[in-house]
Amino acid sequence: MELFKETYIGNMKVKNHFIRSATFEGKATEDGRPTEKIKDLYESFAKADVGTIITSYSYISDYEQPNKNQLGIYKDELIEDYQKITETVHRYGSKIIMQIVHGSSNSQGYKDTAKVLGPSAIEHPTSKITPKEMTQEDINNVIKLFVEAGKRVKASGFDGVQIHCAHGYLLAQFISPLFNHRTDNYGGSVENRIRLVLEIYHAMRKELGDFPIWIKINSSDEEDNGLTNDDFIEMAKLLSYQGIDAIEISGNKWNFHKLNERAYYKDVAMKLADMIDTPIILTGGLREMKDILSIYRNSHVQFFGFARPFVKDVHFIQLLNEQIGQYE
Ligand SMILES: Cc1cc2nc3c(=O)[nH]c(=O)nc-3n(C[C@H](O)[C@H](O)[C@H](O)COP(=O)(O)O)c2cc1C
Repeated sequence: MELFKETYIGNMKVKNHFIRSATFEGKATEDGRPTEKIKDLYESFAKADVGTIITSYSYISDYEQPNKNQLGIYKDELIEDYQKITETVHRYGSKIIMQIVHGSSNSQGYKDTAKVLGPSAIEHPTSKITPKEMTQEDINNVIKLFVEAGKRVKASGFDGVQIHCAHGYLLAQFISPLFNHRTDNYGGSVENRIRLVLEIYHAMRKELGDFPIWIKINSSDEEDNGLTNDDFIEMAKLLSYQGIDAIEISGNKWNFHKLNERAYYKDVAMKLADMIDTPIILTGGLREMKDILSIYRNSHVQFFGFARPFVKDVHFIQLLNEQIGQYE
C-alpha cells in the first residue's frame, strides 16, 4: 500500500508517509541535554518503521525553559550528543527532524529567573503571567536565536528543522489577535501577524540553504475573536509561496475536548492542500486506517502525524499496517 512506501516530503526522501509528531518526553537533563533514554526512545521508533521522527520541542535560548527536563538546542556544546542520536536513527533509514521553540507566558513555571517575552503585555489566562512586550531589539534577538538554533540542528545531523508556531508559544501568540495587540508592523493584519514568522524563516533559509525547514502552526485559536481558519489559510499560503518545505497543521491545544475527537483538523487541512503544493502534515486524532485512507484518497493531504498513539505503543505503524487489509 502506497502509504507504507518510500516517497518525498519536499526534497527529503522518507520511507513512508507516517510521522511521529513532536511529543514532550521530559527525559532530558535539567539543562536540556539529551539522555540515553531519549536516544533509546528515538531508536525504538526508527526500528519500528516510523518514517520521520520529530523530536519534542527544544528550547533555543539560555534565558527561558518552557518545560522541565525539556530538550535544549541553545548552545554548541549540545551538538555532539545530538549527533549520536541522529546517527543512530539514520542506521534504520528513518529521518529525524528537530522541533525548535521559543516559549512565552503559557509555559514558564519552571524557571523563576526566566525572561518572559510576548507580542503584547497581556496576562495569560491560565499561567497568569504577563510577558514583556517585545521591542524591535527583542524581535531581532529572537530571529537570531532561531537562526543559531537552526545551524546547530543542521550541524547535529538532523534531516530538517521544524519551527513551532502552535499551542500558545511565542510565535503562536504573534499570529493570534488574542495575544497580539501590537500597532506596529507586527500586529493587526494577517500579513503583519505572520511577519515575524516569515522573517525567522527567511533568516534561517539564508543560513541553512536547502536544508528542510518545516513549520507546525495553529489552524485557528478555536476561541471568539481569535485566529480564524481563514487567517490561517492566508498565512499558510504566504509560507508556501516563500518556500517552506512542509506545514504541519495543529490548533489550540488547551481546547481539551478536541483531544478525544477524530481527525479534527482534517477539513482545514484538506482545503489548504487543494490550494498549495507544499506538503501538508495532518496531525490530531488520527487512530484508524479507515480515516487516514479516506483523507489520503479524497484530498491532497499526503502525510500523517501521531503523538499519543506512539506514547501508547511505539509499534503503532505496524498496528496501522495490520488494519489495512480490512479497507483495501
Ligand atoms: C504528552 C504530549 C506532549 C506533546 N508535546 C508536544 C511538543 O513538544 N510539540 C508539539 O508541537 N506538540 C506537542 N504535543 C501535541 C502533539 O504533537 C499533537 O499535535 C497532539 O497530541 C494531537 O495529536 P494526537 O491526537 O496524535 O495525539 C504533545 C502532545 C502530548 C499528548
